[in-house]
Amino acid sequence: MKSTVTILLSLLLLSTSFPTINSFFSYNQLQTLTSLAHSLMNRVASLRATRGDFTGSERARRIAEKLEGGLGLWRGIWSMSWDYIRNYSWRDMETKEMFGAVSDMTQFLSALGELTQLESDKERATWFIGNYQRVFNISRSILQRLLKVFIKSGSLRELVLTLQREVEGGLIMDCLTLGSNDLKGLMQIIKDVASQFSSSNRSENGRWEEL
Ligand SMILES: *[C@@H]1O[C@H](CO)[C@@H](O)[C@H](O)[C@H]1NC(C)=O
Ligand SMILES: *[C@@H]1O[C@H](CO)[C@@H](O)[C@H](O)[C@H]1NC(C)=O
Ligand SMILES: *[C@@H]1O[C@H](CO)[C@@H](O)[C@H](O)[C@H]1NC(C)=O
Repeated sequence: MKSTVTILLSLLLLSTSFPTINSFFSYNQLQTLTSLAHSLMNRVASLRATRGDFTGSERARRIAEKLEGGLGLWRGIWSMSWDYIRNYSWRDMETKEMFGAVSDMTQFLSALGELTQLESDKERATWFIGNYQRVFNISRSILQRLLKVFIKSGSLRELVLTLQREVEGGLIMDCLTLGSNDLKGLMQIIKDVASQFSSSNRSENGRWEEL
């Protein structure tokens, strides 16, 4: 079943004249991304439940369910690919905002890098007090920029809007409470994909090509 969908999807992507989604992220990246995000959201759901935030926990659980492998995942990819092909003419892509988002992601990663170097809970607690607001602001800025990139309605914009609601509601704090490694791994992949987007450029005929 999965492989039929994969073949169909590949054929679809190959048959378009746009650069394929496949050229921006690999199957492995996608798999790692979804499995990291899935486990992180499940842990966020449990964390929220233990402190009595049942609606928050339920929201996190629903996001985790959407990320679960199998058909659901493929359907998501399918629909996102369609969004790209139909909604985003590569000519109109907001490269400036994408560059900005990538540079924010670099800052985010370097902040998380500082946090993962710390060895004691006491050091981490001090880091939190001094840096949480900055990390929160960076996440906000990333999402605002992505909303300017994914300006048309569709599943990608929906995804960014969902994340934005969760970030405003304390998602970053929850993730950092659970440990910064998963979040760092996730952001690294997202940044790699975004960098590929923003380093591609249009050629004379208006199509985007890898430099
Ligand atoms: C983008 O594509 C989705 C389907 O993939 C469609 O529902 C939506 O209306 C499209 N948006 C625009 C602005 O064309
Ligand atoms: C975060 O953003 C708020 C307002 O958006 C600002 O007042 C605050 O100074 C910023 N904090 C840091 C550490 O960047
Ligand atoms: C893309 O091309 C334009 C002009 O052709 C150039 O000004 C811009 O810097 C290029 N962007 C990148 C990422 O190389």
